[in-house]
Amino acid sequence: MIVVDTVQALRSARGNLAEPLGLVPTMGFLHAGHMALVDAARAQNATVAVSIFVNPKQFGPNEDFATYPRDLDRDLAMLRQAGVDLVFVPSVEEMYPADFSTTVDVGPIGEVLEGARRPGHFRGVATVVARLFGLFQPQRAYFGQKDAQQCVVVKRLVADLGLPLEIVVVPTVREPDGLAMSSRNVYLNPKERVAARVLSASLRLAEQHFRDGERDAETLRRLVRETVSREPLVRLDYVSVADASTLAELEVVDRPALVSMAAWVGRARLIDNILL
Ligand code: PAJ
Repeated sequence: MIVVDTVQALRSARGNLAEPLGLVPTMGFLHAGHMALVDAARAQNATVAVSIFVNPKQFGPNEDFATYPRDLDRDLAMLRQAGVDLVFVPSVEEMYPADFSTTVDVGPIGEVLEGARRPGHFRGVATVVARLFGLFQPQRAYFGQKDAQQCVVVKRLVADLGLPLEIVVVPTVREPDGLAMSSRNVYLNPKERVAARVLSASLRLAEQHFRDGERDAETLRRLVRETVSREPLVRLDYVSVADASTLAELEVVDRPALVSMAAWVGRARLIDNILL
């Protein structure tokens, strides 16, 4: 496994790798969710590359950039074990040299849901992802359904700019009790960890009601709200039932829909979603 930390070293390593190349962008502190992306990339490409970069541009001023969990040695051991060919671990200065000045903005789909609560977040994501696509020139890139709006934003970016790669979305990997795996789950104390089950449980309940014929979006939102409110350690930020491709809120679930939510559990802000 080749590990590089400069753009120049990345470019020269990239030149010698077999095509097609599958890229898995990450911020590190890897878990089974990230590894599902790596496994999918391994299955579909001659070469698998992973980036590990905690991207300051996608964190708001009051968010957890400085304390975001990091463990590079462990990450590299996991990636080596999984048969990854190339890992890029740039510094902030390498990713954003002093004269870096471009911002990629995908417009309204980056300004609802997570984008409304985290202003500028998806500009930061789109900007770093566009740069990674330029540096790696992958034939495919892998993203998790866990971050559903990120998938919509990245697909929009690729379509609008005509970038020559395929975006592959991998299903959310969950803990046995349903909690979506996340690097931020380490922020939970044992009681909060138990309480955090209510996120996925409330989504499963909404899914069940949908299967039983419920089509009123507000009824499904209310169901999630009421379920979460019964868990005192969890504070709901929002729940949305939206068109899965435009992310516009629905009144009636008469097309593919994304039920998504964010909630605070202690100091952790967790997100989860399901597709109907
Ligand atoms: P990060 O949170 O490290 O996640 C990297 C990738 O792993 C994302 O595509 C995310 O959706 C996916 N992922 C995380 N948890 C998952 C789970 N439980 N199941 C399946 N996939 C999961 O998302 C980012 O980093 C950044 O925004 C990034 C795309 C790297 C840009 O900086």
